[in-house]
Amino acid sequence: MMVDMDQKQILEWYILAGVEETAADEPFAKISADPVPHIAMPVRKTQEPVLTRQATTALSQATQNACQNAREQCKNIKTLSELKTLVENFDGCALKLTATTTVFGDGAEDARIVFIGEAPGADEDRMGKPFVGRSGQLLDKMLSAAGLERSSCYITNILPWRPPGNRTPTDGEIAVCLPFLKRQIELINPDYIFIMGGSAANALLDVQDSISRLRGHWLEYQIEDGKKIPVLASFHPAYLLRNPGQKAKAWVDFLRLKQKMAENENN
Ligand code: URA
Repeated sequence: MMVDMDQKQILEWYILAGVEETAADEPFAKISADPVPHIAMPVRKTQEPVLTRQATTALSQATQNACQNAREQCKNIKTLSELKTLVENFDGCALKLTATTTVFGDGAEDARIVFIGEAPGADEDRMGKPFVGRSGQLLDKMLSAAGLERSSCYITNILPWRPPGNRTPTDGEIAVCLPFLKRQIELINPDYIFIMGGSAANALLDVQDSISRLRGHWLEYQIEDGKKIPVLASFHPAYLLRNPGQKAKAWVDFLRLKQKMAENENN
């Protein structure tokens, strides 16, 4: 599976990944989106998870009520701007009390790709926009190296509020906020979803699996009307900042996405 990439983009990506020298004369001519010998990518459907998440019934009654409330309110929402207002006024998640702002999704309403992270960090909380801090800067570089315009994508998070001190969100917080993410996806109706990080992947796909196992396969997410959206999961930019050696795998995931987009455009 070979992808024609602009040599400058490939070079930029190698620099991002920390590569400082090359052995071959023409290292940037082509890059494989699938360095693994096998060709067929198993499509693991969300209905066949590796390990399903804890049932919502394990959540407290108050949390279940908040989930139900969020789901009910989302049903009447017809536009992203209505949904943004709904989320800003929603009082069923305590994270809102400690956050400075509600960080709703950002980007093109008719985006073909939705990128999903976990939760706003300190910079996002201050600026009210997803992925504007260090992780966001790396995401921007990855998007541009892959030839994708950030402004033509839609970028959002599982949670619209920053957990204090960036702690891991609880199952209850994720469950209450999930209807907002699901409604964003339905309203945008993208062709592809790219999930960044295991926590976001497990939440949206309703599985319990490590990102190392989830990445590299085309998965599916089914929206309310039955449409199945192809999903790729990959490492979170924050993880890549801590583990630059994994950037090459994230690059392969971006290439997989580009390849599928190109295939579908040609059909
Ligand atoms: N990390 C995330 O998961 N989301 C953001 O918006 C910023 C950092």
